[in-house]
Amino acid sequence: MEAQEKLETILQEVIIENAHDKHVFSNNNKSIGIYKKSMKKAIKTIGNHLKERDTPFTGTSISTIKQRIDNIYLEENKRGKSLDYVLDELKDIYLDDCIHFHNPKYIAHLNCPILTPTLVAEAFVSSLNSSMDTYDQSTGATFIELKLVEWTLDKLGYPENADGIFTSGGTQSNMMGLLLARDHYIKKHFGIDPKMDGLPPEASKFRVLCSEVSHFSLKKNLSLLGLGQNAVIPVAVDPDFKMNTSALKKVIQQQKDLGNIPIAIVGTAGTTDFGSIDPLAEIASVANENDIWFHVDAAYGGGLLISNLHKEKLSGIELSDSVTIDYHKTFYQPVSSSGFFMRDKSFVDYIKYHADYLNSKEQEDEGIPNMVKKSIQTTRRFDALKLWFTLRMIGTEGLSSYMEKAISNAQFTADLLRNREDFEIIHKPEISAIVFRYTPFTGNGNSYCGINSYIRKAIFNEGKAIITSTKVYNEVFLKFTLLNPLTTPKDIEEIIDLIVYHGNEYSLKN
Ligand SMILES: Cc1ncc(COP(=O)(O)O)c(C=O)c1O
Repeated sequence: MEAQEKLETILQEVIIENAHDKHVFSNNNKSIGIYKKSMKKAIKTIGNHLKERDTPFTGTSISTIKQRIDNIYLEENKRGKSLDYVLDELKDIYLDDCIHFHNPKYIAHLNCPILTPTLVAEAFVSSLNSSMDTYDQSTGATFIELKLVEWTLDKLGYPENADGIFTSGGTQSNMMGLLLARDHYIKKHFGIDPKMDGLPPEASKFRVLCSEVSHFSLKKNLSLLGLGQNAVIPVAVDPDFKMNTSALKKVIQQQKDLGNIPIAIVGTAGTTDFGSIDPLAEIASVANENDIWFHVDAAYGGGLLISNLHKEKLSGIELSDSVTIDYHKTFYQPVSSSGFFMRDKSFVDYIKYHADYLNSKEQEDEGIPNMVKKSIQTTRRFDALKLWFTLRMIGTEGLSSYMEKAISNAQFTADLLRNREDFEIIHKPEISAIVFRYTPFTGNGNSYCGINSYIRKAIFNEGKAIITSTKVYNEVFLKFTLLNPLTTPKDIEEIIDLIVYHGNEYSLKN
């Protein structure tokens, strides 16, 4: 036995001395030492980088950025380079010009600044690399995720029998909602098991109703689900971009008259452009009357669930069959962190699969939990740990205060723009997205398109702030998505000054 141990020690030492194997992360002292030193260097590099820049972007041109990466020959040195070399190189090819979502003047897309506790959690998630598919690859991680699922189900007001799973993002969660909606309808009305037998011929007539400003992932997902993008039937919105339920009822009837089969309604709680929240309770009753699935895409608005000030806005969400929530938007989590929730755990049967090598039926009968049966992924990150650290260290009150600040910034912006004659704001922000345009001269929609497109690009190319644009009824509008609680009214005023500055520049050039 002693001889065997000695041999193993010698072998271990030989392995460690090998230049390549020194990179293999392990539990021997040498490996732990290298890990600690490497992480220290990485953290120092990130810290220095953050201190060096106070704008969300540098304005470096796309061609310069591309060229720097083109210049790298990946097999230049077959035995690799030192960490110092790679970190130095990274500065040039990525760090120096990366986009800072945490900068208070980044107010473009639905990217949130992230919380420090989540970065501590990330170190554990990546370093220990648990995989959430089965208990024997995750142990306590499975129960941590389950507890956070329960916590979210409680906030949703779902019944006891509900269930959920962490996903890679809102797109995947929406896919799961549509998948369950499709298969539930097939099982109930055609008596066949779509998991085994695929789609019946009638599936070409399946239709999903959602507002005309809902997220594009619904279309993409329906094409992936074999129903085609044309299965999405857009429903008109009211002046605040919320689904009009009278229009919804009419569209359902029209579709039935055409011989089509409405199988689901998707309500959006926080549309990507406007942050508008569809009338969820009214939609739930239309879905109920028609005996069809009701999915809520709360990828953006989900964060309101924990705010005492704003949770009423999501009233009716508890009546849905399934919900999408993106923690990596309004819960301030690093990408990826998202969830899919269903009101009845038996819906899992539509995707459940037992693989003998992984999650055998026998193990399930023994009461060993396995998350893979609820997921469309197999290997899956322990993203839940980030939310765990957040709730343990910041708490729901602290967490909800961030979105509350963002919402009050949106109100401030709307008031500011409404009081100016050179801006047109086209809706009442309900969460934290504001769509408006700069209208310094008397013009028409078309003439405003040029100036507003120019402004967005000019601001991006300058790097001092990042805003975005969108099209509303084919005309270009500017958009702020406010998520950063550190953004101040002064930041917002300065960004509006930039808009005016570049707007004037455009007028001088044209
Ligand atoms: C309303 C809505 N649903 C779904 C998504 C897709 O989410 P993800 O980017 O996490 O896949 C988004 C993304 O912005 C969204 O705004």
